[in-house]
Amino acid sequence: MSREVGRPAFEARALTKTYRMGEVEVPALQGVDLRVWDGEYVVILGPSGSGKSTLLNVLGGLDVPTSGLVRYRDHDLAAPDERRLTAYRRDHVGFVFQFYNLIPSLTARENVALASEIAPRPLAPEDALDRVGLSHRLDHFPSQLSGGEQQRVAIARAVAKRPDVLLCDEPTGALDAATGRAVLEVLERVNRELGTIVLVITHNAAIAECADRVVRMADGRVARESRNASRRSPREIAW
Ligand SMILES: Nc1ncnc2c1ncn2[C@@H]1O[C@H](COP(=O)(O)OP(=O)(O)O)[C@@H](O)[C@H]1O
Ligand SMILES: [Mg+2]
Repeated sequence: MSREVGRPAFEARALTKTYRMGEVEVPALQGVDLRVWDGEYVVILGPSGSGKSTLLNVLGGLDVPTSGLVRYRDHDLAAPDERRLTAYRRDHVGFVFQFYNLIPSLTARENVALASEIAPRPLAPEDALDRVGLSHRLDHFPSQLSGGEQQRVAIARAVAKRPDVLLCDEPTGALDAATGRAVLEVLERVNRELGTIVLVITHNAAIAECADRVVRMADGRVARESRNASRRSPREIAW
């Protein structure tokens, strides 16, 4: 699928991020080097506090690093230029978080439509919801959906704007094993069918087998990277 040729889509070098809490400095990233290639499905593993969310937020243009280089294609993500980061997020990035953040008073279709309205070349909400297997739930409100279904609506919402990159922070963290597996199947399908770069943060090492590449973080650094010879279907993994 992905090819390590040419220029990587994402490149981070010697990336650091230090949060200041009054007198205390919290080093969240301490020199991250990372490349992500077109078409890749990457899982980021690591203990709590190892800097996974901070890294994802920097790659998504939600936060800027303290030092180091980071770019997405020709977008410099290290420069604290809020207007350009906003445009980058709008035009290129879809986010999926652990909690779904759906608007309770809107149906599944309306939640997705709201996000796709601001995109230049969106998928129809019905198409996005079909891709996550929710064609039969278009007019349901979030309260009428299971946790896994709500997360799939959140994925449809992110996918509807046809992002080049889908960044997922613990997307199965609040779900039981069977439901989490269904959500992973959706992410795998988005990557395979739309060619979207997918980065997934997880605590669950089993999920790593579904990815092209696994990045293990520890203490704000990439501790180890490995490549899977072939991806396994989320159906096949022991959770
Ligand atoms: N906004 C913030 N302000 C202060 N410290 C933060 C902030 N975000 C993260 N941190 C700290 O940075 C470190 C890395 O956090 P994080 O990236 O959330 O790790 P992970 O996602 O791997 O659990 C932690 O010690 C965390 O407490
Ligand atoms: Mg986190």
